[in-house]
Amino acid sequence: MAQFQKKIQRLGVFSSGGDAPGMNAAIRSIVRTAISHQIEVTAIIGGYPGMLEKNFQPLNLRSMANIIQRGGTVLKTGRSMEFHKPEYRKIAAENLKSAQIDAVVCIGGDGSFRGAHALWLEHQIPITGVPGTIDNDIFGTDNTIGFDTAVNTALQAIDKIRDTAASHDRLFIVEVMGRNSGLIASHVGLAGGAEIIFTPDVPITVDQAIDKIKAGQARGKMSSILITAEGQKPGRAYDLAEQIRKKAGLEAKVCILGHQQRGGSPTAFDRVLASRLGSVAVELLLQGQCDIMVGSQGEQIITVPLETAISKGKSTPRDYLSLANILAN
Ligand code: F6P
Repeated sequence: MAQFQKKIQRLGVFSSGGDAPGMNAAIRSIVRTAISHQIEVTAIIGGYPGMLEKNFQPLNLRSMANIIQRGGTVLKTGRSMEFHKPEYRKIAAENLKSAQIDAVVCIGGDGSFRGAHALWLEHQIPITGVPGTIDNDIFGTDNTIGFDTAVNTALQAIDKIRDTAASHDRLFIVEVMGRNSGLIASHVGLAGGAEIIFTPDVPITVDQAIDKIKAGQARGKMSSILITAEGQKPGRAYDLAEQIRKKAGLEAKVCILGHQQRGGSPTAFDRVLASRLGSVAVELLLQGQCDIMVGSQGEQIITVPLETAISKGKSTPRDYLSLANILAN
């Protein structure tokens, strides 16, 4: 956490990285909290690329009408490779200063927070971070905005797949999002009664999966659902299906849920979380605090230095995997 003295007259807000349901609820909260303190608000459209292109737009109370229930982000979002380079961050800082933006709230994931932390360290742009990513892989907060909605979206799909899997006595492999994170996979796997859950960080072998499926079949369990996080390469479910076919002669149907997990109307949980975090992110700046993420621990709103939030990810909860393994018998 850092402190600054400047009085804030104009606040910038942007969403960054992959969109997440509930980002709009956070934007609404940030804008309306700021305006309640007579602070002007400028949208930075399209994340860091928008900051580099000076894609700025003034916002008012009415700009935030009718968005709390909408998925996606009305401010657009993007990822920027250029922002990894200091010379581009310098341009971004100059753009913010020339638009008289005194402080900024960034809604995004760990990559977005790296950029925010660098903007403070290198150019003294006061920034607070609101964690928004369906992956829930940000260290220091129990939940990120969008995770609950994404888990429920995936679960609805898995429940439907289970109907057809049971009717046909079939094996399905369902791939959920999570490049480096097994949080979605472990949650939907436990909630959806999956037989095996593959995540990027817990080594479970195809042989173990085959043993589990065959043991189930021996007990009369004729349909199974395996969940896999996508890992580094979306389509991992096809590789697993191929290995299971080659090793055990078992045919598996594949369903990749993909980007539908990022869309849709946010759950009540995500809207409440987003509204609370967004408001505190503004209040902290008004108190002269920055370089900090607002997060949650249980019902409490907490703060974590951005440097800590980006220092590591979150591992898959092993107890979820072992419980899913016992319960799917
Ligand atoms: O936002 C997080 C995430 O959805 C990951 O789960 C996924 O691996 C990645 O983004 C996909 O990103 P993109 O839509 O840019 O391909």
